[in-house]
Amino acid sequence: MGHRVGYIGFGGMGGGYHYEVARDRKDVCPDLEPAAVFELRESRRAVAIERGLTAYDDLDKFLASDDFDIVVVATSNNFHKDMTIRSLRAGKHVICEKPAAMNAAELEEMIAVSKETGKYLFIHQNRRFDVDFLTVKHAYETGRLGTLRSIESNFAGGTLLGWRAFRDHGGGILFDWGVHLIDQIVYLVQEPVASVRAAVRCEKNPEVDDRTTVIITFKSGLRATVKVAGTFLVPKPRFAVYGDKGILWMDEIYNAKGTLREAKSSEWVAEDAFVYGKEGVSVRKQEILEEDLERIVYPDDGYEVNQDWAALYKNMIDTIDGKAEMLVKHEEALTVMKIIDAAMKSSETGELVEF
Ligand SMILES: NC(=O)c1ccc[n+]([C@@H]2O[C@H](COP(=O)([O-])OP(=O)(O)OC[C@H]3O[C@@H](n4cnc5c(N)ncnc54)[C@H](O)[C@@H]3O)[C@@H](O)[C@H]2O)c1
Repeated sequence: MGHRVGYIGFGGMGGGYHYEVARDRKDVCPDLEPAAVFELRESRRAVAIERGLTAYDDLDKFLASDDFDIVVVATSNNFHKDMTIRSLRAGKHVICEKPAAMNAAELEEMIAVSKETGKYLFIHQNRRFDVDFLTVKHAYETGRLGTLRSIESNFAGGTLLGWRAFRDHGGGILFDWGVHLIDQIVYLVQEPVASVRAAVRCEKNPEVDDRTTVIITFKSGLRATVKVAGTFLVPKPRFAVYGDKGILWMDEIYNAKGTLREAKSSEWVAEDAFVYGKEGVSVRKQEILEEDLERIVYPDDGYEVNQDWAALYKNMIDTIDGKAEMLVKHEEALTVMKIIDAAMKSSETGELVEF
């Protein structure tokens, strides 16, 4: 079944990636076509018209059109909730950019309207298809890491230009990049969250965070640390994932190769330990874990993966057509927003926020 798309916001993401998927990726979504645009900026409406789309400067008229059945919401983050709700109420399915909303309460409203109208609400967490992340997921799901103990996920370099520098627009590095990194972890581990501690810092930017650390502890004891920096390029591995069977380092974003350290053998060995007291030296028994760690270039099992965010588009269109289940589940998107809310609160109070 064919689908046509209307765009609310036709800037970098709406007029770039989202438009190009519908126009070019017939291999993935053969029946998807761009149709119309609602934009505040005249210059972006002119681009839409040049591309043969219908451009609106009136939201009601745009939403009244029956020329498209899907709306992509790609405005600054402060408009996501209202634009999504109005589009759902107008009978459209919605693909909403990340972060889904300004907070979890807003997202809950959006989800409620999606349920009420029977129209799909998709959150565009496309970085579930980044190759560095997919390699981590593959290592975990094939058992090479064993039970996860700790995850470090780092990214530095998102520049906070334009509306991203303003708090009331939903700016800041936690909303811009942190949300992707947190979503990847929530999707990977599929465990309930126990608590969040965070430092959400404005170091260079006067108004929004540009250096943020969020520590998420899951009920199993697994701890994930997300570090995002908007203005500093301090080299750190993109991922360092520690399991009880293996440790995986992914050096860079967009690089599918990592380094896996796994134990070829491991055994507990009883040793004598000298201890010292007033009476002199005595001997106690000690258990030592002897591991023969091997370092390999990973993946080593033939797993090959290409970066292709359009895989998420395929899932969304297949979901509308009843051929797939929604990949980015509402509960996951809500957990991500709740973690972000908790991170803000923890940073303000200096306290751990329990879930
Ligand atoms: N998933 C990703 O990888 C990814 C990447 C970049 C941006 N994003 C998200 O996409 C969204 C847009 O970011 P961008 O980089 O395209 O920003 P942008 O500034 O390039 O584009 C936003 C556009 O929306 C228009 N706009 C703003 N408010 C509007 C309104 N109320 N009604 C109609 N049009 C409006 C602006 O005129 C602008 O053209 C943000 O939510 C951002 O977080 C996601």
